[in-house]
Amino acid sequence: MTALSATPSAPAPTAEAGFGLYVHWPFCRAKCPYCDFNSHVVADFDEDAWRQALLTDLDHALHQMTEAGGKIRPLSSIFFGGGTPSLMPPPIMADIIERAVHLCGATDDCEITAEANPTSTETATLRAFREAGINRVSLGVQALNDDALQFLGREHSAAEALDALRHARELFDRVSFDLIYGRVGQTAAEWEAELTTALSFDLDHLSLYQLTIEQGTQFYTRHRKGEILSLSDDDMATLYDMTADITKQAGLSHYEVSNYAKEGAQSRHNLIYWQTGDWLGIGPGATGRYRGNGQRYESVKRRSPTAYLQQIAERGHAIDSHYQETKEGYFEEVMMMGMRLKEGVPLIRLQDHLGLTSWPFASDMVNQLCEAGWLEVTDTRCRATDEGRLRLNYLLGQLLASEA
Ligand SMILES: C[S@@+](CC[C@H](N)C(=O)[O-])C[C@H]1O[C@@H](n2cnc3c(N)ncnc32)[C@H](O)[C@@H]1O
Ligand code: SF4
Repeated sequence: MTALSATPSAPAPTAEAGFGLYVHWPFCRAKCPYCDFNSHVVADFDEDAWRQALLTDLDHALHQMTEAGGKIRPLSSIFFGGGTPSLMPPPIMADIIERAVHLCGATDDCEITAEANPTSTETATLRAFREAGINRVSLGVQALNDDALQFLGREHSAAEALDALRHARELFDRVSFDLIYGRVGQTAAEWEAELTTALSFDLDHLSLYQLTIEQGTQFYTRHRKGEILSLSDDDMATLYDMTADITKQAGLSHYEVSNYAKEGAQSRHNLIYWQTGDWLGIGPGATGRYRGNGQRYESVKRRSPTAYLQQIAERGHAIDSHYQETKEGYFEEVMMMGMRLKEGVPLIRLQDHLGLTSWPFASDMVNQLCEAGWLEVTDTRCRATDEGRLRLNYLLGQLLASEA
């Protein structure tokens, strides 16, 4: 097997993954007890200061990328994530889209997504998002019954979520929504009913996440005190398998660990991450990764909204760290992101990025994981089976530790 120390060949552009822009909006109405995203509850914010800061950040991110040898090319995706981007004033969104497209260009089918929370107020602003240039919406529905929504600390009711969905479908060709399953006490029959309702909307994309207890959240504190908030691993696995079966019957492919889509409707933005493409990240805590002069760079912005604004005002940027990935880090990124996908990792990606011409894993470990039914490896592709993706952290841990 080829060792990882092989000399990287001159990398070809990541044509399959495209070039994206991620914009982080850090504010929320309330902090959900399970959420560890960079989100903050504030009474108000200075709209002009945020517009200016994000535009300055965009200019700087492009400058920094080109200085590092990265190539500006037409954007295939712009993604407004959060936090709660549906609380972002639409004129700021419009200004960012306009500036980004002016500076980079955009592909004909450029996907421009905003995450939106389905409260009635935010639903009322969806039309303005479309006018700002958004062409895809991802709604944070999370659950379709009021008890579950209350357990998850959400600000909306199930009726509001359904209303938001109907409204979003009228306005946008591409709509997706998120649900969280595996809440304590949730039975397989209840999840099946919830999923069946979700599928009745006949959307071409759904994100279905297993409830995870993340450090630093209210749920984590409660969990540490002994409260049970999510299902056992076995029950969670039952719902995961059921989810794959039911979505498959509905014609959705389980194309990523938590994402299901009809052919051609996959989230182009997230594919950029999973296929190790290039993207810029602006806004508090945003991460960007791109290649330049044969190297891979990561750039991370200041996480605190106050520090972010202040640093941009004082220095014209809010870089917290900007560094060149090691070859090992680059390799781990390709494997850890790519193995989330049903398609897995094509060897050509490691060849393009790192000059590897064969899989650098110990063959006894590969054989063991293949025999367990969790992994499939050919000369050209390495992928986790559905069963393998259920235990992806273990699988990757074994594979990466076995690197020959
Ligand atoms: C950036 S977050 C939320 C965006 C938006 N503010 C909202 O709440 O809908 C993206 C998605 O991650 C999922 N998520 C966040 N924390 C989670 C957790 N601890 N367990 C499972 N899913 C989680 C939720 O489904 C959420 O919609
Ligand atoms: S889940 Fe969404 S709304 Fe809730 S705190 Fe996190 S980012 Fe904000």
